[in-house]
Amino acid sequence: MRERSRAWRAAKCRHGFVPTMGYLHEGHMALVERARANCDVVTVSIFVNPLQFGPQEDYARYPRDLDRDLAMLREARVDAVFAPSVAEMYPEEPLVFVEPTRLSDHLCGASRPGHFRGVATVVLKLFNIVQPDVAYFGEKDAQQLAIIRRMVRDLNVPVEIVGVPTVRAADGLALSSRNAYLGPEERAAAPVLYRALQLARDRILAGERDPGRVKAAMRECIAAEPQVRIDYVEIVDAGSLQPVERIEGRVLVAVAAFAGPSRLIDNVTVDVP
Ligand code: PAJ
Repeated sequence: MRERSRAWRAAKCRHGFVPTMGYLHEGHMALVERARANCDVVTVSIFVNPLQFGPQEDYARYPRDLDRDLAMLREARVDAVFAPSVAEMYPEEPLVFVEPTRLSDHLCGASRPGHFRGVATVVLKLFNIVQPDVAYFGEKDAQQLAIIRRMVRDLNVPVEIVGVPTVRAADGLALSSRNAYLGPEERAAAPVLYRALQLARDRILAGERDPGRVKAAMRECIAAEPQVRIDYVEIVDAGSLQPVERIEGRVLVAVAAFAGPSRLIDNVTVDVP
C-alpha cells in the first residue's frame, strides 16, 4: 500500500481515501463518488476493527461480504482496496492508543466506552499506511467525524478531512450496514428516528430555544413506535459536542435507539437563525 501511495505522490496525483468496515451500501458509495470526483486516485479500506467494538457488541456477527464489496468498488473504478487481516493490523497487543477526551464524553461515547479510542486509533493507523491527501467521512457518524477532524488538528496529521451528507432510504432511514439486522417490523418502525429529528429541526426553526422541550417532543414522537427503544436523544454544540442549555449557534440534534438487536444512530445539524 505504501509503495503504491508513494508512486502516486511522486506522480503528483491527488490521493483520496475512504475508510470503511465493508458490507457497502449507497452511503459508502456516496463517499467513494465524492472522492472519485475530487481526486486522481482513490483507495478504499475494508476492515472490521475489533478495537472499536465493546465486549458485548456485535463484532463477531457484524455483516461481511468481501466479494460483493470488491465488485461494487470495481464498478465504481476505485484504484486500490486495502483489506488487511486483524493479524496484519494488530500483530501484537497494542500498547499505545489515540485517546479522544471531552469529545467522547457524551452521545455514543457515553454508551460505548472505548469506542472512539478504537476508531481514532485505527483511523490514524490507516492514514499512516495509506498516506492519502484527503479522506472522506459520513456526517451520519457526526461524533466520529468531529473527533477525526480534531485528531488531525491536534496531532498535525497531514490529511484533509471532508464530511459527506447522510444518504437515506426513501422513507428517511439513514443507510447503515447494521440495517441488515432489522426484521420487517423493525425496519418499518425505524424511520421514526428521522421523523423525530425533523420535528426537532422544525421546532428549533420555529423559535424553540429550550433543549429540554425539544428533546421531550422527540421522545414522545419515538414512543409512538414500541419497536424502538431510545438510547439517547441529545442536543449538543456542533463543534464541542457538549450539551447546550439554550439552543443557539449551530447545534447537532442526535439520536440513538435500539430496534430489535440493532443500535441505530442518526442526527441533523441545525443553524439557529
Ligand atoms: P462504516 O460504518 O463502514 O462507515 C464508513 C464510512 O461511511 C463512515 O465515514 C460513515 O460515516 C460513512 N457512512 C455510513 N453510512 C452512511 C450514510 N448513510 N450516509 C453517508 N455516509 C455514511 O465508520 C466506520 O465504518 C468505522 O468507524 C471506520 C471509520 C471505518 C473506522 O473503523
